[in-house]
Amino acid sequence: MPLLAFETSCDETAAAVIADGRVLASIVSSQIKMHEEYGGVVPELAAREKAAQAVAFSLRRPFLGIHHHEAHLYSPWIRGNPPAADFSQFEPNISLIVSGGHTMLVHVESELKHRVLGSTLDDAAGECFDKVGKLLRLAYPAGPIVDRLAAGGKSTAFNLPRPMITDAGDDFSFSGLKTSVRYFVRDHPEVAQSAEGLADLCASVQQAIVDVLVTKTVRAAKRLRVGCVTASGGVTCNRRFRTQITDACSAENFRLRLADRELCTDNAAMIGILAERKLRMGQPVTDLDADILPSWPLSP
Ligand code: KG4
Ligand code: ZN
Repeated sequence: MPLLAFETSCDETAAAVIADGRVLASIVSSQIKMHEEYGGVVPELAAREKAAQAVAFSLRRPFLGIHHHEAHLYSPWIRGNPPAADFSQFEPNISLIVSGGHTMLVHVESELKHRVLGSTLDDAAGECFDKVGKLLRLAYPAGPIVDRLAAGGKSTAFNLPRPMITDAGDDFSFSGLKTSVRYFVRDHPEVAQSAEGLADLCASVQQAIVDVLVTKTVRAAKRLRVGCVTASGGVTCNRRFRTQITDACSAENFRLRLADRELCTDNAAMIGILAERKLRMGQPVTDLDADILPSWPLSP
Protein backbone atom coordinates (compact mmCIF):
# COMPACT_ATOMS: atom_id res chain seq x y z
CA MET A 1 0.00 0.00 0.00
CA PRO A 2 1.40 3.43 -0.84
CA LEU A 3 2.37 5.54 2.12
CA LEU A 4 2.03 9.30 2.69
CA ALA A 5 4.95 10.66 4.72
CA PHE A 6 5.25 13.99 6.54
CA GLU A 7 8.34 15.67 7.93
CA THR A 8 7.41 18.37 10.41
CA SER A 9 10.17 18.42 13.00
CA CYS A 10 11.78 21.80 12.52
CA ASP A 11 11.96 24.59 9.97
CA GLU A 12 10.72 22.57 7.03
CA THR A 13 7.36 20.98 6.37
CA ALA A 14 7.59 18.25 3.77
CA ALA A 15 5.45 15.53 2.28
CA ALA A 16 6.26 12.48 0.15
CA VAL A 17 4.53 9.47 -1.35
CA ILE A 18 6.37 6.15 -1.08
CA ALA A 19 5.52 2.76 -2.56
CA ASP A 20 7.65 -0.38 -2.77
CA GLY A 21 10.79 1.38 -1.58
CA ARG A 22 10.46 4.10 -4.24
CA VAL A 23 9.90 7.81 -3.79
CA LEU A 24 6.97 8.65 -6.11
CA ALA A 25 6.75 12.31 -5.05
CA SER A 26 8.56 14.55 -2.58
CA ILE A 27 7.98 18.23 -1.79
CA VAL A 28 9.49 20.55 0.82
CA SER A 29 8.03 23.82 2.04
CA SER A 30 10.52 25.89 4.00
CA GLN A 31 9.66 28.26 6.83
CA ILE A 32 12.97 30.03 6.31
CA LYS A 33 11.28 33.39 5.58
CA MET A 34 9.45 33.18 8.90
CA HIS A 35 12.57 32.22 10.86
CA GLU A 36 14.79 34.74 9.06
CA GLU A 37 13.02 37.51 10.96
CA TYR A 38 14.17 35.97 14.23
CA GLY A 39 17.67 34.91 13.09
CA GLY A 40 16.99 31.23 13.78
CA VAL A 41 14.35 28.58 14.24
CA VAL A 42 11.68 29.42 16.80
CA PRO A 43 10.43 26.00 17.98
CA GLU A 44 6.93 27.24 18.79
CA LEU A 45 6.52 28.62 15.30
CA ALA A 46 7.86 25.42 13.75
CA ALA A 47 5.64 23.25 15.96
CA ARG A 48 2.44 24.91 14.75
CA GLU A 49 3.01 23.24 11.42
CA LYS A 50 2.55 19.73 12.95
CA ALA A 51 -0.59 18.14 11.59
CA ALA A 52 0.27 14.61 10.37
CA GLN A 53 -1.68 12.89 13.11
CA ALA A 54 -4.78 14.97 12.43
CA VAL A 55 -4.59 14.03 8.74
CA ALA A 56 -4.28 10.31 9.57
CA PHE A 57 -7.18 10.58 12.00
CA SER A 58 -9.48 12.40 9.60
CA LEU A 59 -8.70 10.00 6.73
CA ARG A 60 -9.01 6.96 9.07
CA ARG A 61 -5.56 5.69 8.08
CA PRO A 62 -2.99 4.01 10.35
CA PHE A 63 -0.27 6.31 11.68
CA LEU A 64 3.40 5.50 12.28
CA GLY A 65 5.64 7.97 14.10
CA ILE A 66 9.21 8.16 12.76
CA HIS A 67 12.09 9.68 14.70
CA HIS A 68 13.57 12.54 12.69
CA HIS A 69 17.18 11.55 13.41
CA GLU A 70 16.54 7.90 12.76
CA ALA A 71 15.35 8.91 9.30
CA HIS A 72 18.55 10.95 8.79
CA LEU A 73 20.52 7.90 9.96
CA TYR A 74 19.16 5.70 7.16
CA SER A 75 18.94 8.39 4.45
CA PRO A 76 22.38 7.42 3.00
CA TRP A 77 20.72 4.11 1.99
CA ILE A 78 18.41 5.87 -0.44
CA ARG A 79 19.82 6.19 -3.93
CA GLY A 80 19.00 7.08 -7.52
CA ASN A 81 16.76 9.34 -9.50
CA PRO A 82 13.92 8.96 -8.69
CA PRO A 83 15.25 7.96 -5.24
CA ALA A 84 14.67 4.41 -4.00
CA ALA A 85 15.67 2.35 -0.95
CA ASP A 86 18.99 0.55 -1.33
CA PHE A 87 19.02 -1.54 1.85
CA SER A 88 20.34 -4.61 -0.01
CA GLN A 89 23.75 -2.94 0.24
CA PHE A 90 23.42 -2.32 3.98
CA GLU A 91 26.41 -2.96 6.25
CA PRO A 92 27.24 -1.94 9.83
CA ASN A 93 28.58 1.61 9.93
CA ILE A 94 29.50 4.69 11.89
CA SER A 95 27.02 7.41 11.03
CA LEU A 96 27.46 11.14 11.51
CA ILE A 97 24.24 13.13 11.73
CA VAL A 98 25.11 16.78 11.44
CA SER A 99 22.43 19.44 11.08
CA GLY A 100 21.23 22.73 12.50
CA GLY A 101 19.85 21.05 15.60
CA HIS A 102 22.17 18.10 16.18
CA THR A 103 25.66 16.73 15.81
CA MET A 104 25.92 13.09 16.75
CA LEU A 105 27.93 9.97 16.08
CA VAL A 106 25.96 6.75 15.97
CA HIS A 107 27.13 3.14 15.73
CA VAL A 108 24.66 1.40 13.41
CA GLU A 109 25.29 -2.19 14.39
CA SER A 110 22.69 -3.75 12.11
CA GLU A 111 19.66 -2.56 10.21
CA LEU A 112 17.39 -0.63 12.61
CA LYS A 113 19.74 -1.33 15.55
CA HIS A 114 21.85 1.64 16.56
CA ARG A 115 23.57 3.17 19.53
CA VAL A 116 24.42 6.85 20.01
CA LEU A 117 28.16 7.17 20.75
CA GLY A 118 28.27 10.89 21.36
CA SER A 119 26.66 14.18 20.53
CA THR A 120 27.26 17.85 20.95
CA LEU A 121 27.43 19.19 24.47
CA ASP A 122 26.28 22.64 23.34
CA ASP A 123 25.80 24.01 19.81
CA ALA A 124 25.31 21.79 16.76
CA ALA A 125 27.76 22.19 13.87
CA GLY A 126 25.05 23.72 11.64
CA GLU A 127 24.10 26.06 14.46
CA CYS A 128 27.76 27.12 14.64
CA PHE A 129 27.73 27.89 10.89
CA ASP A 130 24.48 29.84 11.35
CA LYS A 131 25.59 31.78 14.46
CA VAL A 132 28.98 32.65 12.98
CA GLY A 133 27.07 33.79 9.89
CA LYS A 134 24.92 36.05 12.05
CA LEU A 135 28.08 37.59 13.56
CA LEU A 136 29.26 38.21 9.99
CA ARG A 137 25.84 39.66 9.06
CA LEU A 138 25.05 36.87 6.60
CA ALA A 139 21.46 35.75 5.97
CA TYR A 140 19.91 32.73 7.71
CA PRO A 141 20.65 29.87 7.31
CA ALA A 142 24.27 30.90 6.86
CA GLY A 143 25.78 27.42 6.28
CA PRO A 144 25.35 27.44 2.49
CA ILE A 145 26.55 31.07 2.29
CA VAL A 146 29.68 30.35 4.35
CA ASP A 147 30.30 27.35 2.07
CA ARG A 148 30.07 29.59 -1.01
CA LEU A 149 32.20 32.43 0.41
CA ALA A 150 34.79 29.98 1.77
CA ALA A 151 35.45 28.70 -1.76
CA GLY A 152 37.21 32.01 -2.49
CA GLY A 153 39.17 32.15 0.79
CA LYS A 154 42.23 30.63 2.49
CA SER A 155 41.39 28.06 5.16
CA THR A 156 44.73 28.63 6.91
CA ALA A 157 44.30 32.43 7.10
CA PHE A 158 43.16 32.45 10.75
CA ASN A 159 44.01 29.91 13.41
CA LEU A 160 40.76 28.97 15.16
CA PRO A 161 40.22 26.29 17.83
CA ARG A 162 39.09 22.75 16.96
CA PRO A 163 37.12 21.99 20.14
CA MET A 164 37.42 18.45 21.56
CA ILE A 165 39.27 17.19 18.48
CA THR A 166 41.82 15.31 20.61
CA ASP A 167 39.28 14.29 23.24
CA ALA A 168 39.08 10.47 23.45
CA GLY A 169 35.26 10.48 23.64
CA ASP A 170 32.75 10.90 20.81
CA ASP A 171 31.10 14.10 22.04
CA PHE A 172 31.40 17.45 20.28
CA SER A 173 31.36 21.10 21.32
CA PHE A 174 31.07 24.07 19.00
CA SER A 175 30.09 27.02 21.22
CA GLY A 176 33.75 27.83 22.02
CA LEU A 177 34.55 28.16 18.32
CA LYS A 178 31.62 30.54 17.87
CA THR A 179 32.85 32.58 20.85
CA SER A 180 36.37 32.72 19.39
CA VAL A 181 34.94 34.13 16.17
CA ARG A 182 32.90 36.65 18.15
CA TYR A 183 36.05 37.96 19.92
CA PHE A 184 38.02 37.88 16.68
CA VAL A 185 35.39 39.97 14.87
CA ARG A 186 35.21 42.37 17.84
CA ASP A 187 39.00 42.84 17.88
CA HIS A 188 39.47 42.89 14.08
CA PRO A 189 36.27 44.43 12.66
CA GLU A 190 38.08 45.38 9.44
CA VAL A 191 38.59 41.72 8.46
CA ALA A 192 34.91 40.93 7.90
CA GLN A 193 34.43 44.24 6.10
CA SER A 194 36.65 43.35 3.15
CA ALA A 195 35.54 40.69 0.65
CA GLU A 196 38.91 38.95 0.92
CA GLY A 197 38.92 38.98 4.73
CA LEU A 198 35.36 37.69 4.88
CA ALA A 199 36.20 34.83 2.50
CA ASP A 200 39.31 33.93 4.53
CA LEU A 201 37.35 33.99 7.78
CA CYS A 202 34.57 31.81 6.32
CA ALA A 203 37.14 29.35 4.98
CA SER A 204 38.95 29.22 8.34
CA VAL A 205 35.75 28.66 10.35
CA GLN A 206 34.52 26.04 7.90
CA GLN A 207 37.88 24.24 8.06
CA ALA A 208 37.83 24.17 11.87
CA ILE A 209 34.32 22.65 11.91
CA VAL A 210 35.10 20.13 9.15
CA ASP A 211 38.38 19.04 10.79
CA VAL A 212 36.52 18.17 14.01
CA LEU A 213 33.70 16.33 12.23
CA VAL A 214 35.94 14.28 9.95
CA THR A 215 38.62 13.46 12.53
CA LYS A 216 36.15 12.24 15.14
CA THR A 217 34.04 10.24 12.66
CA VAL A 218 37.02 8.40 11.20
CA ARG A 219 38.46 7.75 14.65
CA ALA A 220 35.19 6.18 15.85
CA ALA A 221 35.04 3.98 12.73
CA LYS A 222 38.59 2.75 13.36
CA ARG A 223 37.96 2.09 17.03
CA LEU A 224 34.76 0.13 16.41
CA ARG A 225 36.24 -1.70 13.40
CA VAL A 226 33.41 -1.06 10.99
CA GLY A 227 34.08 -1.01 7.23
CA CYS A 228 31.67 1.77 6.39
CA VAL A 229 31.03 5.42 7.25
CA THR A 230 27.78 7.26 6.48
CA ALA A 231 26.77 10.89 6.93
CA SER A 232 23.57 12.88 6.62
CA GLY A 233 21.91 16.12 7.74
CA GLY A 234 22.11 19.63 6.30
CA VAL A 235 25.81 20.21 7.04
CA THR A 236 26.79 17.21 4.88
CA CYS A 237 25.85 19.42 1.90
CA ASN A 238 29.02 21.35 2.73
CA ARG A 239 31.49 20.92 -0.11
CA ARG A 240 34.61 21.03 2.04
CA PHE A 241 33.11 18.39 4.33
CA ARG A 242 32.25 16.13 1.38
CA THR A 243 35.77 16.35 -0.08
CA GLN A 244 37.56 15.87 3.23
CA ILE A 245 35.49 12.92 4.47
CA THR A 246 35.86 11.27 1.05
CA ASP A 247 39.66 11.62 1.21
CA ALA A 248 39.86 10.50 4.85
CA CYS A 249 37.70 7.41 4.23
CA SER A 250 39.63 6.39 1.15
CA ALA A 251 42.92 6.74 3.08
CA GLU A 252 41.55 4.34 5.72
CA ASN A 253 39.80 2.03 3.22
CA PHE A 254 36.32 2.74 4.59
CA ARG A 255 33.39 2.58 2.22
CA LEU A 256 31.63 5.95 2.42
CA ARG A 257 27.97 6.70 1.88
CA LEU A 258 26.94 10.33 1.95
CA ALA A 259 23.24 11.06 1.71
CA ASP A 260 22.39 12.51 -1.70
CA ARG A 261 22.27 16.31 -1.61
CA GLU A 262 18.48 16.52 -1.90
CA LEU A 263 18.16 14.07 0.99
CA CYS A 264 20.77 15.77 3.24
CA THR A 265 18.45 18.53 4.38
CA ASP A 266 15.08 17.80 5.92
CA ASN A 267 12.67 15.95 3.65
CA ALA A 268 9.77 13.53 3.90
CA ALA A 269 11.19 10.95 1.47
CA MET A 270 13.59 9.69 4.16
CA ILE A 271 10.70 9.51 6.65
CA GLY A 272 8.54 7.46 4.27
CA ILE A 273 11.32 5.10 3.17
CA LEU A 274 12.19 4.29 6.79
CA ALA A 275 8.50 3.96 7.74
CA GLU A 276 7.90 1.46 4.96
CA ARG A 277 11.05 -0.47 5.91
CA LYS A 278 9.91 -0.66 9.53
CA LEU A 279 6.44 -1.85 8.55
CA ARG A 280 7.99 -4.54 6.34
CA MET A 281 10.20 -5.62 9.24
CA GLY A 282 7.10 -6.03 11.40
CA GLN A 283 6.99 -2.82 13.43
CA PRO A 284 3.40 -2.12 14.54
CA VAL A 285 1.75 1.22 13.75
CA THR A 286 1.80 3.81 16.53
CA ASP A 287 -1.29 4.87 18.49
CA LEU A 288 -2.83 8.02 17.12
CA ASP A 289 -2.12 9.76 20.39
CA ALA A 290 1.69 9.37 20.02
CA ASP A 291 3.32 12.15 21.99
CA ILE A 292 4.92 15.11 20.31
CA LEU A 293 8.01 16.01 22.29
CA PRO A 294 10.45 18.87 21.77
CA SER A 295 13.28 16.34 21.90
CA TRP A 296 13.11 12.57 21.71
CA PRO A 297 16.09 10.35 22.54
CA LEU A 298 17.37 8.33 19.58
CA SER A 299 18.66 5.43 21.66
CA PRO A 300 15.94 3.31 23.33
O1 KG4 B 1 19.16 18.86 8.36
P1 KG4 B 1 18.77 20.28 8.21
O2 KG4 B 1 18.07 20.71 6.94
O3 KG4 B 1 17.80 20.74 9.36
C1 KG4 B 1 17.97 20.39 10.69
O4 KG4 B 1 17.45 19.32 11.07
O5 KG4 B 1 18.63 21.18 11.38
O6 KG4 B 1 20.09 21.17 8.43
C2 KG4 B 1 20.09 22.58 8.36
C3 KG4 B 1 21.48 23.07 8.74
C4 KG4 B 1 21.56 24.59 8.89
O7 KG4 B 1 22.28 24.89 10.06
C5 KG4 B 1 22.36 25.01 7.65
O8 KG4 B 1 23.13 26.18 7.84
C6 KG4 B 1 23.26 23.80 7.44
O9 KG4 B 1 22.42 22.69 7.72
N1 KG4 B 1 23.77 23.71 6.07
C7 KG4 B 1 25.07 23.86 5.74
C8 KG4 B 1 25.14 23.77 4.33
N2 KG4 B 1 23.88 23.54 3.85
C9 KG4 B 1 23.05 23.51 4.94
N3 KG4 B 1 26.14 24.08 6.50
C10 KG4 B 1 27.34 24.20 5.87
N4 KG4 B 1 27.49 24.13 4.54
C11 KG4 B 1 26.43 23.91 3.73
N5 KG4 B 1 26.58 23.85 2.41
ZN1 ZN C 1 17.25 17.31 10.09
